[in-house]
Amino acid sequence: MSGKTVDQVLKRIAHNWDLPDQAEITLEANPTSVEASKFKDFAAAGVNRVSLGIQSLRDQDLKALGREHDVAESQAAIKLAQKSFPRMSFDLIYARMGQTVADWQVELQEAIDLAAGHLSLYQLTIEQGTAFYNAFHRGKLILPEEEVSAEMYELTQQVCADAGLPAYEISNHARPGQESQHNLTYWRYGEYIGVGPGAHGRLFYEGELRATVQKKKPEDWLKGVATSGHATDDVEILPLRAQAEEAVMMGLRLVEGINLEAFRQTTGHSLEAFLASPQVETLLETGFLTKDPHHLKATEKGRPLLNSLLTEILP
Ligand SMILES: C[S@@+](CC[C@H](N)C(=O)[O-])C[C@H]1O[C@@H](n2cnc3c(N)ncnc32)[C@H](O)[C@@H]1O
Repeated sequence: MSGKTVDQVLKRIAHNWDLPDQAEITLEANPTSVEASKFKDFAAAGVNRVSLGIQSLRDQDLKALGREHDVAESQAAIKLAQKSFPRMSFDLIYARMGQTVADWQVELQEAIDLAAGHLSLYQLTIEQGTAFYNAFHRGKLILPEEEVSAEMYELTQQVCADAGLPAYEISNHARPGQESQHNLTYWRYGEYIGVGPGAHGRLFYEGELRATVQKKKPEDWLKGVATSGHATDDVEILPLRAQAEEAVMMGLRLVEGINLEAFRQTTGHSLEAFLASPQVETLLETGFLTKDPHHLKATEKGRPLLNSLLTEILP
């Protein structure tokens, strides 16, 4: 996207909604030199935070991940982003093919040395319908064993906390006050408007929470906007059960947990009543979940097992 397009999008947002001066305006960018050459224009347009998809600090792995940038470009882009924007973050993927815990420890330290106030660190997941999925199931892609990945996760928590970047979400780490505001909105199950090809939104109006989906293919999206002024593909009223499920799936990712009062205020219903079950009692007793008067959270022990916890909590 050109700086000019970003500028026009932001102007339109400010025209249609209240845009406070201190609003976080994040742009996701690839760390190629072409993209980095636009940072100045993005900042001039009003972007005040950038998130770079670095993925790996090893050239060989960037190739294997099918990425267009190399490590030298990444380091240059990180440094330029720090000069160009008040806040920045970058993403890495770990538990990659052939990676050992010791390899990741060295790479993670390099990342921390490069980082500003925020880091996203994801374990590689193999998604159905991708080339990786096929390679993995044909035995052509060897990934670290589950125990090794778990050890990498533990190490990540420890090293980042010691460096002053504790986790505030399963895969996200920040210096206090540097948490990503837009991501917190999704995890806290706030409202958001989704504009652009494939974008999802959650909007409360006429007494109902609605899930909006935009047309996925950019060409279809453009055509929709040109002919009817929007490219909304679907608007669905979310029943209470779906809202509770989403709030749980999102909120348990956060170290702060689910805000029970906020759920009651937006939906008028008690999440605790919805979640009352012998399974949840057991997870509380065995220390995978914990509760205070305002929050239900996954503990340090529970968070890495969230997917399994969710199958118990939301049968
Ligand atoms: C919302 S995604 C952004 C997608 C982005 N366009 C990309 O290039 O991957 C945020 C981050 O998810 C991570 N990610 C993408 N694919 C992944 C996978 N298969 N497993 C784990 N993390 C992944 C990357 O670090 C990416 O920067």
